[in-house]
Amino acid sequence: MTHQDMFGCETSVANAEALAAWNRTVHGFLAHAAWTGETLGKALASDQRFALGHACKGLFSLLLGRRELHAVARDAYRTAIEIDHENAVTRRERHYIEALGAWIEGSPRRAIACMGKVLESFPHDALAMKLDHAIRFMLGDSKGMRKALEQLTGTYRNGHVAEGYFNGCYAFTLEETGEYRLAEEHGRKALELSPDDAWGFHAVQHVFDMTARAEEGLAWTEGKDEAWQHCNNFRYHVHWHNALLHLDLGHHDRVLSLYDTQIRQDKTDDYRDIANATSILLRLEFDGVHVGNRWDELANLASARTQDHCVAFADLHYMMALCNGPDETAATNLLSSMQSIGEKRHNDEMQAIVHQPGLLAATGLEAFRDHNFELAYNCLSKARPELQSIGGSHAQRDVFERLAIESALRGGLTSQARGLLRERDLHRGHRDGYSQSRWAALEGLNSTSGNTIDHVVADRHVA
Ligand SMILES: [Fe+2]
Repeated sequence: MTHQDMFGCETSVANAEALAAWNRTVHGFLAHAAWTGETLGKALASDQRFALGHACKGLFSLLLGRRELHAVARDAYRTAIEIDHENAVTRRERHYIEALGAWIEGSPRRAIACMGKVLESFPHDALAMKLDHAIRFMLGDSKGMRKALEQLTGTYRNGHVAEGYFNGCYAFTLEETGEYRLAEEHGRKALELSPDDAWGFHAVQHVFDMTARAEEGLAWTEGKDEAWQHCNNFRYHVHWHNALLHLDLGHHDRVLSLYDTQIRQDKTDDYRDIANATSILLRLEFDGVHVGNRWDELANLASARTQDHCVAFADLHYMMALCNGPDETAATNLLSSMQSIGEKRHNDEMQAIVHQPGLLAATGLEAFRDHNFELAYNCLSKARPELQSIGGSHAQRDVFERLAIESALRGGLTSQARGLLRERDLHRGHRDGYSQSRWAALEGLNSTSGNTIDHVVADRHVA
């Protein structure tokens, strides 16, 4: 028996109660809502033979980038396959099961292709649209994200129930491909159509960051709590974006206060929360701010994840924590484990990225910790051309841009620092506070003999 879901797709769910919980789950996934896991549990409790629900449980688990959740994903896959053998799923649902199987086998790219098959026949299935977007995000595939959505623009208009969320995703892809004005337009439209579209809201935050409009961004964010208050830990990321804008304005006390009260409100070990925290602490330290013992709890959590290697982006932020924590051996363990991946024969796409460019960037982090700035610069500059593949956004990966620039500055490689700054300015189209301070520091180094970059940057911030 099938029912139609909120997008009008035939769904082999057994009863109305399970269908209602499933629709709520899909809405939650689109809106990054805290209730998503709970309603998925209700859907599966109401219909234990709901294969699509099991497939999505597996896919959602893999999106969390944690090694122990692979067992959950495998169990979900086994159950979904078992149900499929009873011929109790639709063709559309079978593609979701295939996507889960492909990712479990190590190929998120084949999982994306499966979502493409869903969208070829069912372009109005916004769950597939969002999953395609989310998996590509983990691979840093901004061009693919944008292309996939541009093939769907005709579907998500004139009152499609997910028109707002579609615009939010599209806004993000536009921002990540440098179309800042259009990105802002679509992000604002997303919020008008779906006031709880946290992703669309956050796409506009990205635009303010990339176009160096920190004050305007903070003013715009004010009072828009409806967009993100319902969120899972994504709300910490929203606060992280505000912290970036404050950082750009030199409001260091405000950044630390946001860090303590919002960004690390819960001391979770979700890699996205660890990434928010580590990357803001490192940025603060680049600006000469003392962050006290805040690294310690992050390093403690990261030390339990040195064998994960589910997502290179996660490994690198664990490394950031470990390089600044009290136990140097944990950083060495993570690095050795990343190294050993390259020595194995494997077909795992994520692990291939961990090995290259992940290992180079991690070595750069270790060298920076050891004040071997020339080596740090060499590793990071070699990793740069492929760094987008670690996933995340430009704003998130900017911490590695800054790390390379700081390494060059501190290693006395001033022409390399200038080159990196020029590229960064060009990409953004604007000089933000960070860029202005480093250009000024370079001028200071030229004009004042005997000064080091630390003196010049610190002097600017004290002033
Ligand atoms: Fe973001």
